[in-house]
Amino acid sequence: MNKIAIFASGNGTNAENIIKYFKNNKAVEVALVCTNNPKAKVIQRASNLNTNSFIFHKKELSDSSIVLDKLKENKIDFIVLAGFMLLIPSTIIEYFPNRIINIHPALLPKYGGKGMYGDNVHKAVLTNNESETGITIHYVNEKYDEGDIIFQIKCNVDPSNDSINDVANKVHLFEYKYYPKIIEQLLTKFLLKKEK
Ligand code: GAR
Repeated sequence: MNKIAIFASGNGTNAENIIKYFKNNKAVEVALVCTNNPKAKVIQRASNLNTNSFIFHKKELSDSSIVLDKLKENKIDFIVLAGFMLLIPSTIIEYFPNRIINIHPALLPKYGGKGMYGDNVHKAVLTNNESETGITIHYVNEKYDEGDIIFQIKCNVDPSNDSINDVANKVHLFEYKYYPKIIEQLLTKFLLKKEK
C-alpha cells in the first residue's frame, strides 16, 4: 500500500478530487490531509470523505520536526501539494527525495514564484495578454515552483473576453482531469521500486 499525504491551505477542491479518485484503490490510500490553515475548507472536505486532517502552525513547519514526525507516524510514502501556500522545509524534502509534487495553475517557468498562486496567477496571465495558459505538475524543491517539470498541458485563453473566473475554471478542469492520473503513474513506478 502506498500512502499519500496531501498538503493544502485553502478550498481543497483538488484534494477532494484526489481523495475520491483513490477511494477504492487497493494500492493507494490518501492517509492524511495536512494544512497550515485551521479555517481551510479542505478540512471539511476531507472529513466528509473520512480522511484525517493534521493542522499545524507555519512556524511548526519551518522550525520543528512536528510535521515530519506526523508523516513518519502515518507511514507516508508520497506527498502531494494541492494549493499549499508555504515552502516545504529541506528536512522534509530530503526525507522524501523525488516523492513530493506540486500542481501550479500556469505554464511554468512563466507566472511562478512567491505570491503567484490561485487567482493572482490567472490575473497576471490576462494582464499580459497571453493567448494560452495551462497547468504544470512538478517535483518540489526548496524554492517556489522551480523543481523539475513532470507534466504540462496548455489551454487557450481569450484576454479580451475571459474573466479571471473563466480562466480559473478552465485550469481547474485540467487539474481535476490530470493530477490524479499523474500521481497514479508516479506511484506505480515508485511501488515497483519498493517491491524490488
Ligand atoms: C489550484 O488551482 C492550484 O493549482 C493552485 O491553487 C489552486 C487550489 O485550488 N496552486 C497554486 O497556485 C500553487 N502556487 P483548490 O484549493 O480548490 O484545490
